[in-house]
Amino acid sequence: SVIAITDILAGKYPVDESITIHGWIRTRRDSKAGISFLAIHDGSCFDAIQAIAPNNLANYQTDVLKLTTGAAVKVTGTLVQSPGKGQSFEVQAEQVEVLGLVEDPDTYPMAAKRHSIEYLREQAHLRPRTNIGGAVTRVRNTLAQAVHRFLHSKGYLWIATPLITGSDCEGAGEMFRVSTLDMENLPRNEQGKVDYNQDFFGKETFLTVSGQLNVETYCCALSKVYTFGPTFRAENSNTSRHLAEFWMIEPEIAFADLSDAADLAEEMLKYVLQAVLDERPDDLAFFEQRVDKTVIERLKSVINNDFVRLDYTDAITILENSGKKFENKVSWGVDLNSEHERYLAEEHFNGPVVLQNYPKDIKSFYMRLNDDGKTVAAMDILAPGIGEIIGGSQREERLEILDKRLAEMNLDADDYSWYRDLRRYGTVPHSGFGLGFERLVAYATGMQNVRDVIPFPRTPNNASF
Ligand code: 4AD
Ligand code: MG
Repeated sequence: SVIAITDILAGKYPVDESITIHGWIRTRRDSKAGISFLAIHDGSCFDAIQAIAPNNLANYQTDVLKLTTGAAVKVTGTLVQSPGKGQSFEVQAEQVEVLGLVEDPDTYPMAAKRHSIEYLREQAHLRPRTNIGGAVTRVRNTLAQAVHRFLHSKGYLWIATPLITGSDCEGAGEMFRVSTLDMENLPRNEQGKVDYNQDFFGKETFLTVSGQLNVETYCCALSKVYTFGPTFRAENSNTSRHLAEFWMIEPEIAFADLSDAADLAEEMLKYVLQAVLDERPDDLAFFEQRVDKTVIERLKSVINNDFVRLDYTDAITILENSGKKFENKVSWGVDLNSEHERYLAEEHFNGPVVLQNYPKDIKSFYMRLNDDGKTVAAMDILAPGIGEIIGGSQREERLEILDKRLAEMNLDADDYSWYRDLRRYGTVPHSGFGLGFERLVAYATGMQNVRDVIPFPRTPNNASF
């Protein structure tokens, strides 16, 4: 099988023996003495391995000198300890086989130079070949594997919740419709409204904004569960933190209150960030150098300090007394904007903050009403540099109060009959949260825009590729 370059550089293969590597040319440099130095990478780690091709190779003139950035090769030769600094091993090539040349190197979009992040976004199909594209991809993978590993080690079951749904979990009306109706000729009922009875599912359906309501059903049977999958929001916000299609991790815990959920969230964030420090030092060194000088220091500080826990009401007091001129004024009852969240996490506390017990009117119907009758057991976790990274709550497990909340929010209890059943048959206190995966990847890398940490970003007016 093909040998990964990361394993060679890690010293897993004996020196002075023959080895075959496969990969793409990052750079080629020719010495006056008639030797070509090929930096070859395969995505398995940040570094490339150097292959040294002498001009006495039979195909030196015809092939080796045609190799340019992006060309694919198979090189066989002797593995040797490298004398160059910063290099551990290199290959003295005896055979260089060209698998694929780059047509017209002058116009190759990923030529070896620094490209702007915006330019790379427009080349999403070639972006993974760049240093930054590869590093983001490996860190994203480490985070995803670490999330599953952490939750599995704690006994959580991974539940597949549907992407097509009839209900709006967050009640924000930001849903993409799923329909097979003929748009040119929509069937109408007697009132002139679109007749979704004639649609594929016999009702109006959407792409899900969250797997929470569905995963609650499994929580109320199997106790510790989570979803990890794509979610969709048609919010027309052109910001560096919003995607129309993003991934979310949603643990749901039975017999647990809000502080249990906050504990799990804090432990999980620390675990997965530690995994990045342990598994991807090469990529983090790159991010620190090129993207965010403070990234490693920041990850360590998050891991080593307790998260602040603060009531919304106290946060309002802090904001009111901050002496800052916010664009959006704060007073008890208003929803916080990113300027307020950033002030709290960055300036006031300089670390992650679990903000909890929000006014009920700015939060979703399913959140548990507190004894004060004004607030709900909700939490947002705010992180410096990114703002809200997690949203969660204790769920309302009391049927009467849930029904009152549905009515208050003008939601039809009939639409939630299966959700209400959980409260009718053996109801239990339960809590959970949603961690936005792209915001987590951005946080762990220092990347400034979630569009650059998902392979094919979906944003307003952009669904290319
Ligand atoms: O706060 P949200 O809306 O919470 C929920 O969806 C709950 N049902 C979760 C739960 O309790 N199971 O979203 C959760 C997180 C946010 O904190 C944010 O990190 C991320 O999802 N998020 C987005 N990420 C990228 N693009 C968007 N448009 C996002 N909207 C939310
Ligand atoms: Mg939220």
